[in-house]
Formats: sequence, C-alpha cells, structure tokens
Amino acid sequence: MTDRIDMRRAWNLIAPHYQAEHKIPASFVHYGPHCPNEDQLQLIGDVRGKHVLEIGCGGGQCSIAFAERGAIATGIDLSDEQVKFARELAKRRRVKAKFYRGNVERLTRIASDSQDVVFSAYALIFVRRLDSCFAEVHRVLKPGGLFVFSLDHPFWYCLAEKELRIEFSYFNGEYSYEWGQTGLDARPRVRQYQRTVGEYYRLLRGAGLEVLHIIEPKPVAEGSGQDWGAYYSPDRQKMVPATIIWKTRRPGAQG
Ligand SMILES: C[S@@+](CC[C@H](N)C(=O)[O-])C[C@H]1O[C@@H](n2cnc3c(N)ncnc32)[C@H](O)[C@@H]1O
Repeated sequence: MTDRIDMRRAWNLIAPHYQAEHKIPASFVHYGPHCPNEDQLQLIGDVRGKHVLEIGCGGGQCSIAFAERGAIATGIDLSDEQVKFARELAKRRRVKAKFYRGNVERLTRIASDSQDVVFSAYALIFVRRLDSCFAEVHRVLKPGGLFVFSLDHPFWYCLAEKELRIEFSYFNGEYSYEWGQTGLDARPRVRQYQRTVGEYYRLLRGAGLEVLHIIEPKPVAEGSGQDWGAYYSPDRQKMVPATIIWKTRRPGAQG
C-alpha cells in the first residue's frame, strides 16, 4: 500500500527555502548542478520567436532565460508557491513569460501542436504518471518539435550520500522520504520515481517520441551557478554523472 502524500502541499512548503538556498540564476537555461548549461551545450539552439513550454518550471528561471533569448515562454508547475515566485521574478526582470499552476500529467492549458520546444530540468522524477506526461508532451509539440529534459542520473541515486559507495539499488522504483532542508520547520514527505534508463526509453518510445541523444555530462565548475553543497560536488561527479539529459523529438517535418 502506498502512503498518502500531497505533493502540491509539500512543494508549497519547500519552495521558499528551495529558492533561498539554491540561488538558481535566471540568466541562462540550466540542466542541473555543475552541469554545462544550454548556452554551452546548444541542444535546443536559437529560440527566437519559438514557443517554449517548461514543465515542472519551479521558480521559472529557465522559462525566463528562454524569454530573454526571444522565446514565447510558458512555465507550468504543481506548486502555487513556485508559480508565485516565477511570476514575481519575471516581473522583476521585466520579462514576458506565462506561468500556470498545474500537473504536467495533463497539460490542459496548452493547445495541441502549439509548441516548438518542451523543456524540463530536474522535475520529472516527481511525476507519477510519466506515460500521461509524455503523451501530453507529444500532443502539444508541433511535428518535428523538440522535447529536451534533464534529471538526476538514475545511477546517482545508488550512491551513499557522502561517499562513492553503492548503497541503494538501481532498481529502487518508487519511494518517499522527508525533504530535509535548512530553514524548513516541517519536513514534508515527497515521493519520487527512480526509473532506469531503459524505462525512460520505453516510456518515450511508447508516447511516440524519438530519442535523438542521451547526454551524461562531465561536471564543470561553472555552468549551473546553483548552490547544492557537497552532495553534487564536481569531485563526485567526475566519477559518476549526476545528470542525464534526454534530447527527443516528435517525429514529422517542421512546418
Ligand atoms: C527540483 S524542482 C525543479 C524546479 C525547476 N525545474 C528548477 O530546475 O529549479 C522540482 C519541481 O517539480 C514540480 N513538480 C513535481 N511534480 C509535479 C507535477 N506532477 N506537475 C508539475 N510540477 C511538478 C515541483 O513543484 C518543483 O517545483
């Protein structure tokens, strides 16, 4: 039996501390801690005039960076607090970007065949019905549109918190834990889904998406500008990749 976890409430509690602690820059599109960013990797390239949807956008930093590069950007997140932060940040930076609260398993606000790019950074690990989410991504993308997303590398979760020792199974599956973070009085439970590389591939193919590249980047000192302390230190990441990036597309000719 699975325990009852309210992810919306959990992320509402976590959001203010998450933003204060990790200091995620909005000046570029990031893929993860000490991971080269989009300006460096060029997986998406020029977004001028393109419709870009970010799913699990958190505080909206990447959507804002897309908008600052000329995209028509929209972000969706489950958490009211993250969306509030994103709207305020966009206002402070005088950037036009739309932010909606919603579950990425159902992208009801987004029209079919409307997006040139769907993007996500470090969010889809929390999504239960990833099959529905990927089917929705396929629906909202224009034919030939790109779906590029990053996640914790599933093997990274096998490591003990401080050492390079295997502590957890690669086949851990679904589990929940208390989010421990500086400044948080409550320790809300969150659930995440540790899917294998093969499982992601199966789900993407099942949704009709074509896998173009899988990138397991070596760490860079700069790149994400985020503060995640020792857990994601470049030294650990020199041994095992922390991030995996999937570049996929909806098949078809671009209109
Ligand atoms: C680790 S944060 C990453 C946020 C942002 N992409 C970033 O890089 O800072 C994960 C985000 O996923 C969101 N999230 C979790 N489950 C979701 C769902 N089913 N639908 C939409 N957003 C979700 C959370 O609210 C949270 O903001």
